[in-house]
Amino acid sequence: MPKDLKEQIAEIESHSLCRLTRCTSADEIEQWRVDIMGRRGELTTILRSLPDLDAKTRPVIGALANQAKVQLESAFDKRKEELASQLFDVELRNMGHLDVTLPGRSIPSGSYHPTTQIVREIAEAFTAMGFQTIEGPEVELDSYNFQKLNIPLHHPARDMWNSLWIKQETNDENASLLLRTHTSPMQVRIMENNPPPVRVLVPGKAYRYEATDATHEWQFTQIEGLAVDKNITFANLKATLEEFARRIFGNRRKARFRCDFFPFVEPGAEMSIDCFRCDGGGCRVCGNSGWIEILGAGMVHPEVLKGVGYDPGVYTGFAFGMGAERISMLRHGIDDIRHFHLNDLRFLRQFA
Ligand code: PHE
Repeated sequence: MPKDLKEQIAEIESHSLCRLTRCTSADEIEQWRVDIMGRRGELTTILRSLPDLDAKTRPVIGALANQAKVQLESAFDKRKEELASQLFDVELRNMGHLDVTLPGRSIPSGSYHPTTQIVREIAEAFTAMGFQTIEGPEVELDSYNFQKLNIPLHHPARDMWNSLWIKQETNDENASLLLRTHTSPMQVRIMENNPPPVRVLVPGKAYRYEATDATHEWQFTQIEGLAVDKNITFANLKATLEEFARRIFGNRRKARFRCDFFPFVEPGAEMSIDCFRCDGGGCRVCGNSGWIEILGAGMVHPEVLKGVGYDPGVYTGFAFGMGAERISMLRHGIDDIRHFHLNDLRFLRQFA
């Protein structure tokens, strides 16, 4: 047996292991790998010469060489790991120091849009008073948006709503489609499909063909309310809406109801609250009047009740509608409704 081969393997093993401990950089350790185990490396050369050996020697030398290979490989892996963590330490040291008192990096999280927030808050106020929240279609038939709400074709009351038509058939209110101008059509849809009593809140988008300014958007969010039962009176309307105003604007708020006209209620009213900024004294927010209008309301018109098959001699009810963004603007002192749609994070983050 060629003793020199055996010795050579032992020699390679010992000096390689020794050299490995002196490697202190990624480059050095890579060079070590090339010199020992690379294509022309010291150990590789021996392994390559195995086929030239005679049949008796080959298995012995082969076994030794392979043992050495396994050992060197695992020593290499271990050293590489060691170096990696040491180098990381060095890097950290070079960076100066590690300030363990620094606050952790926060994980960014989203939040609800201010419109969603106010809708939920208002819905909560009414849920507490026994109202159920449901939604309805944004594309509506003329008959629901107008006709069944006591606004016949060609009636001047239609001028109160600047409509966005999808399909306008002048003489057939069941073929004409539009983007709903208010959430009131849901009053009819709900009553048509449910026997009294009903107590519902309907938040949703409404659309109007309108120039945009600080208080008008062509798309906005409306919240409709409807309560119908035996013995519902205007006093119930007032109490319910006053309670809502207190929940959203604070306990000290006073409410004022004045006559207003909506074809689907009788009598109709607008509700104002005394200005929460100046307590009614007059300021910029309330336009010096001391009062801020917040919604339209009224007792459901007997014609509307009749139309859905409710007997107006037995059942009465009240309805109201408010602009969600307007409520949010008043509540938070937002001066322009367009903020709600600009997607400006500086605005939105204030509601996070
Ligand atoms: N739908 C009316 C509007 O958009 C508001 C309203 C709703 C008034 C319900 C009375 C009753 O102006």
